[in-house]
Amino acid sequence: PQPQVNTHKDRVSATLPTGDSVEILLYGATVISWKSNGKERLWVSEAAKLDGSKPVRGGIPLVFPCFGPPPKDHATGALPQHGFARNSHWEYLGSSSSESGPLSKGGDDSVKLDFGLSSANLSAEAKKAWGYDFGLVYSVTLGKDGLQTMLNVRNSGSTAFDFQILLHSYFSTPSITRTAITGLAGTSYVDKVLNATEHTESNTSISITGEVDRVYKSIPQDTTSVLVDGKPILDVQRDNVRDSVLWNPWIEKAKGMGDFEPKDGYQKMVCVEVGAVDGWQKLEPGETYEGGQILRAY
Ligand code: BG6
Repeated sequence: PQPQVNTHKDRVSATLPTGDSVEILLYGATVISWKSNGKERLWVSEAAKLDGSKPVRGGIPLVFPCFGPPPKDHATGALPQHGFARNSHWEYLGSSSSESGPLSKGGDDSVKLDFGLSSANLSAEAKKAWGYDFGLVYSVTLGKDGLQTMLNVRNSGSTAFDFQILLHSYFSTPSITRTAITGLAGTSYVDKVLNATEHTESNTSISITGEVDRVYKSIPQDTTSVLVDGKPILDVQRDNVRDSVLWNPWIEKAKGMGDFEPKDGYQKMVCVEVGAVDGWQKLEPGETYEGGQILRAY
C-alpha cells in the first residue's frame, strides 16, 4: 500500500499505511495535526481560528521573515510580530513519495508535501511592508514515527535581504509538571520573561514550573528532547538552524490570549521552536537558504 494524499479546499492531508498522518492548512502552511502511533503529537487550541482570520494558535505556525516584534529601524520594521508567512495563503505544489531519506525506515515509503509562497501572491499589505522578491518552498515529509519540516528561502530579486525563520511548534504533552526538556545545557539564552537578560543554561534537564519564554542561541547539540516522567516522547532535531525558543505561557499569559482554550491548556503543551533568530540571515540575489527540523516520536 502507498501513502494516501487528500486535498481539500483549505487543507492537504497525508496518511501512511501504518496509520500515521499529517494535516496542513494552506493558510500559513500551518501543520495542524501530526499523528504517530495513534497519538496526536501537536497541540492546537480549541479556540484556534482555522478560517484564515488570524494565525493558528497551535500546530506549527511558520515565522518568516522576522521573529517577534521586528526592530523599528530594520527592513522588517513595518511587519507584524512573527512576519507574514503564518498568515498568508500558500499554494499546494504537490506530493512525492520516496523509499529513501531520513524518514523512510526499512524501505517504508515516506511522503513529502510541498507548499509555496512568493512575493507574487503576497497580500498588498505585506508587500508594502516588505517589498523584496522572494520564493518560499515549505516541504513537510511524513514518515513512520517521524516528520520533517524544511523551509527553503530564495532571493529572486536584485537586492540582498535579511530574514529570520522559526518553526513555532506546539507539542502536546500529557502534563507539564511531568515534562522536562533536555539538550540545551551549556547554551546561552535570552530570557524574555526576565527583561531580556542573558543567562547560561546550567540544567541538563529543564522543568517548566511557570511562564517560560527563552531564546537559546547557537546551540552546539543537534537535538532537543521532550521527556515525560524521565522518558523521551519526542526528539526535535535542528537541520541547518542553530537557535531554539522554549515557550509556555502559563496561567496569566494564557488568560490574556483570546484564542487560547481551554485556559488550563498550558498544562498540555510546550513550544520548542527551532530556527535562525539570533541576528539575521542575509541572502544575496539568486541565493537560496534551507533550514528546518526532523521530529521523531516515541
Ligand atoms: C514565541 C515568543 O515564539 O511566540 C513569545 O517567544 C510569544 O514571546 C509567542 O508570546 C507567541 O506569539 P504569538 O504572536 O503567536 O502570540
